[in-house]
Amino acid sequence: MRKKKKWLVGMLVIVNVFLLFGCGKRQETREDKVHIGVTYYNQSDTFLNELLAQFKEQLKNPEHEELEATVTILDAAGSQRTQDDQVKELIDMGCDVLCVNLVDRADPSEIIDLARDHDVPIIFFNREPVEEDLRQWDELYYVGAEAKQSGVMQGELAAEVIQKNTQIDKNRDGKIQYVVLEGEAGHQDSIIRTGNAVDTIKNSGIELEKLSYQIANWNRVQAQNRMEQLISQYQNKIELVLANNDDMALGAIDAYKKANYTESAWPVFFGIDGTDAGLRALADSELSGTVYNDKEGQAKAMAKMVEAIGTDEEIAEKYVYLPYIKVTSENIGEFLEK
Ligand code: GAL
Ligand code: CA
Repeated sequence: MRKKKKWLVGMLVIVNVFLLFGCGKRQETREDKVHIGVTYYNQSDTFLNELLAQFKEQLKNPEHEELEATVTILDAAGSQRTQDDQVKELIDMGCDVLCVNLVDRADPSEIIDLARDHDVPIIFFNREPVEEDLRQWDELYYVGAEAKQSGVMQGELAAEVIQKNTQIDKNRDGKIQYVVLEGEAGHQDSIIRTGNAVDTIKNSGIELEKLSYQIANWNRVQAQNRMEQLISQYQNKIELVLANNDDMALGAIDAYKKANYTESAWPVFFGIDGTDAGLRALADSELSGTVYNDKEGQAKAMAKMVEAIGTDEEIAEKYVYLPYIKVTSENIGEFLEK
């Protein structure tokens, strides 16, 4: 059984006092504090910033109303060494639970050892550790989404648009010339998204011709630079841009704007995430489709786990995967409201 944390014991004591005297005002129970330490791989990442904003929102309204959460969020700035030090710092600060978005998803050993030595559970999120690592200790959890599903959905969205609009095949050779903008090399959401998106389009009967795959590390500016090079290399030959996330799709669009291409000469662009800027570009018909990476669902799942750890509830699943959702101009309204 899980060792009870200080703040949980505090809460039980207060609850008992209430049972004995049967009265009291709610705010008097708000003495049960949980300190959550978060570290994430890079503060320049749009999706993660939006996800963490949601997480903070969730913690303001916990299901266990007695719980008062404070959060410390640190930016690992792309360095695993820095992140290892940050975990130590967060533990020394007295954090009761850690939420870790690994810099290097293949290298969590030091963090796991530190947390286990101090009995501080870890909820990993978004950058999935390998199963073997998650089995190192029973207080390790993961919240994220299935990379394969997002790739398949992006492929389905693209196939549907291509089948409906014959003018996307600009040179009318019966094939769609495409480029891919990929996230980081070792990330589960890069290679799996690309492979499944491309296979799904092909399986729908569309003939594809690959022009180039470029790594742009989830980043809008890097994607713009890559795309500028591709435009000068292929000129108007590119008919489809598949980006592993919205920010890179937006960077590609930036490149076409900068090159002064009229919209009718643009390829079609597809992203993943449904970030605020991504949804806006979809509403403006610059982006042809995106796949919603359910940040609200993920933030809620993380907050629930934090509470469960705190109240010593059993956590049924070590892994929680939130489903992706296809977003098109037809259902975008639901997402703009979020
Ligand atoms: C992906 C997301 C990307 C980026 C990446 C960081 O799930 O689609 O935009 O945030 O995670 O790990
Ligand atoms: Ca073509």
